[in-house]
Amino acid sequence: MKPCPDTFPFPLVALDETASTNQYLSQLCNQLQESVAELTTVTAEFQTAGKGQRGNTWEAEEGKNLLFSFVLYPSFLEARRQFILSQIVSLAIKEELSRWSDEITIKWPNDIYWKDKKICGILIENDLSGHHIRRSIAGIGININQEVFNSDAPNPVSLKQITGKEHDRYEILAHILRRVQIYYNSLQMEDFAVYSDEISTRYARSLFRRRGLHPYEDANGKFLARLLRVEQDGRFVLEDEGGSEREYLFKEVQYIL
Ligand code: BTN
Repeated sequence: MKPCPDTFPFPLVALDETASTNQYLSQLCNQLQESVAELTTVTAEFQTAGKGQRGNTWEAEEGKNLLFSFVLYPSFLEARRQFILSQIVSLAIKEELSRWSDEITIKWPNDIYWKDKKICGILIENDLSGHHIRRSIAGIGININQEVFNSDAPNPVSLKQITGKEHDRYEILAHILRRVQIYYNSLQMEDFAVYSDEISTRYARSLFRRRGLHPYEDANGKFLARLLRVEQDGRFVLEDEGGSEREYLFKEVQYIL
């Protein structure tokens, strides 16, 4: 396993062990305020209380994977447009992992999949101030070199399982951060309406099961539907077999895999 290089192109805190890199970075930002530069990244070889979505835990074998969090201060972004941060982070990871496979997709809202298996989870924690986003901490777990999964996670896969070889975790991390930086800078510099539409288009093209009828489950039970679109605020819009539109917020609908 290679150590993190001294020449890493972003401010980096590389830890052997912490409860959660999201929690560590949030505490660091609370202590030092905005002297923690944008895209400062905390990595850990192991997390004792890694946080997942929906209050789940995120488990990963020590020293094998990418477990990291980075900070942004997107005060230019209205809170109602916060989903665009999920889109750019998902796209950055999807594009980087697509160097090794053309079957990498984004499973709404922001899991990264290879075929029907999860290679990466993302947990973005936004701090709002009025109608704007004061701080955003993006936490990402990518299965890189792990070969055996013992946890309860239903369908994990790693990059090594896909490609049959070991990968340099810090090289992948640097590439992902660079891709996030490019998207993020463009979001600030270009015409927001035009650029956010471009992001939405790219995101839509990258989605898991974007074509055809697939099984889903909501509070009323199982059904078959096709994906129509994802709205700017992240709502997921399906058309069921009867031709009716069904619209969902996060956690209101599940894919049946
Ligand atoms: C999910 O449930 O899919 C999201 C998982 C996010 C896990 C990552 S690992 C690094 C960062 N620190 C955490 O505590 N969680 C995120």
